[in-house]
Amino acid sequence: MGKYTVLLFAFLTFSLLHENAIAGDKVPYIVYLGEPPSVEAGIDLLLHRTTIANSHFKLLGSILGTLQAAQDAIFYSYTKNINGFAAKIDKETADKISKSDGYVGSNSLWSKAGYGKDTIIGNLDTGVWPESESFADDGMGDVPSGWKGICQNDVDTTFTCNKKLIGARYFNKGYEAYVGPLNSTFRTPRDKDGHGTHTLSTAGGAFVANASLFGHGNGIAKGGSPHARVAAYKVCWPPVDGGECFDADILAAFDAAISDGVNVLSVSLGGDPVDYFNDGIAIGSFHAVKNGIKVVCSAGNSGPTAGSVSNVAPWIFTVGASTMDREFPAYVSFGNTSLKGQSLSSTSLAEGKYPIISSIDAKAANASAHDAQLCFIGSLDPAKVNGSIVICTRGTNARVEKGEAVLQAGGVGMILINSASTGNEIIADAHVLPATHITYSDGETLLSYLKPNSMVLGYVTKPETVLNTKPAPFMAAFSSQGPNTVTPDILKVSV
Ligand SMILES: *[C@@H]1O[C@H](CO)[C@@H](O)[C@H](O)[C@H]1NC(C)=O
Ligand SMILES: *[C@@H]1O[C@H](CO)[C@@H](O)[C@H](O)[C@H]1NC(C)=O
Ligand SMILES: *[C@@H]1O[C@H](CO)[C@@H](O)[C@H](O)[C@H]1NC(C)=O
Ligand SMILES: *[C@@H]1O[C@H](CO)[C@@H](O)[C@H](O)[C@H]1NC(C)=O
Ligand SMILES: *[C@@H]1O[C@H](CO)[C@@H](O)[C@H](O)[C@H]1NC(C)=O
Repeated sequence: MGKYTVLLFAFLTFSLLHENAIAGDKVPYIVYLGEPPSVEAGIDLLLHRTTIANSHFKLLGSILGTLQAAQDAIFYSYTKNINGFAAKIDKETADKISKSDGYVGSNSLWSKAGYGKDTIIGNLDTGVWPESESFADDGMGDVPSGWKGICQNDVDTTFTCNKKLIGARYFNKGYEAYVGPLNSTFRTPRDKDGHGTHTLSTAGGAFVANASLFGHGNGIAKGGSPHARVAAYKVCWPPVDGGECFDADILAAFDAAISDGVNVLSVSLGGDPVDYFNDGIAIGSFHAVKNGIKVVCSAGNSGPTAGSVSNVAPWIFTVGASTMDREFPAYVSFGNTSLKGQSLSSTSLAEGKYPIISSIDAKAANASAHDAQLCFIGSLDPAKVNGSIVICTRGTNARVEKGEAVLQAGGVGMILINSASTGNEIIADAHVLPATHITYSDGETLLSYLKPNSMVLGYVTKPETVLNTKPAPFMAAFSSQGPNTVTPDILKVSV
């Protein structure tokens, strides 16, 4: 290959590096991305190619830090018949590109499926945040001619659709029949919770360069079908008496989505598994499937209990939760011991050693030991927590809420420990203070060091991002599991 090396990523071989390159040396690399996406009807060819070239700047820019640096480094953008670019970069940057899986060569199944092009994904959930970059319509052609949906912004005119987010509707009459009359703030498909935006962008979000969570995991965000069109059906509202999405609204959304012309419905909602005739999702999805629509539902987050899987009707594609091949380790260190946890805290402790105390020992006088152990808001005594790292046990209240309780009581950090039932599954959360989440057995180890009348001093390190971890993926402990309690003959989420 003469002076050039070839970077083929996401498929086949991968020969790297200019022979004489020294670390930090900038040498020419070719980044090959397969075939350019085909031109959509009605899109100007020049504009199409500019969009592809811009995607190259964004890809390299997300690694180099600025678009300008990318523009300076790239000396060819291949946009006509070949998709890729040539740039003078160092080996470290090349390695990062090869690990970024945002773009895949033309041999991959994902590419052959056109990244979901020409597919319309509908989502029944808490609505959508239309301004999210995952729903920007850069480079997309006209809305498919068969689409019959609407953008229901009759009351909330701030809500707009585009060629990516092609439709949105809201259904609140079932909720209203239960809670009483609703005012105009309920007449919008806008997502005020976040769940619907999360699930719809997971299914069909566009490529978004330079995405990160408070600087952790920087890279290209994308949905499973980044070139698909999407439509939101808002059926979930603020929780009331343990429910937030009513069957009457869910059925109305299925009824509308089927005539609107969606190809796929994503439904991350569910209750306890019940007989299909008493289950709005089972009935609605039955009619959708009869009309040739694929319906994909979540299994639920009630694991690891056996038989906890919901949405078990045979015609539904039921999906459990799993992990990814990346970790965000943050360590607890004390004495000569270091325990590996996970965290996405954006703040870190000042250097030094801090008292590590159990939340049970920091119980407020008016709180129960149970509430203090789980670190409920208001259950900790500020005089005892002051300046300490507090150990909280997982369960019942939200994991990040436990950190909030510690912070409110004047703690400087939190160590979240698993209960026996959650075992080894640790989760990287965006905690509101320096914190880390460790396994049940590490939690037991840590607690064994706490003795009356002696103080354990320690530290929680700032989280790092580690890629390509193994084993991955594995089933998340919180994922609901089979067996299928309604139709045992049909396996659902079996481990
Ligand atoms: C990437 O994000 C960082 C932090 O948000 C920002 O400073 C930088 O300009 C962004 N780079 C590009 C290429 O957009
Ligand atoms: C609408 O109703 C909600 C919930 O009942 C309430 O919080 C909000 O203040 C009301 N907004 C207006 C404009 O009346
Ligand atoms: C850890 O520290 C303790 C004293 O704090 C000491 O007795 C022990 O030998 C040390 N263990 C190791 C493996 O260094
Ligand atoms: C205990 O009292 C404090 C101070 O009055 C209050 O903020 C907190 O919510 C109370 N906690 C409980 C569990 O009642
Ligand atoms: C926390 O400790 C600081 C000094 O270390 C002290 O000034 C402050 O009053 C303490 N706060 C509480 C609530 O005990």
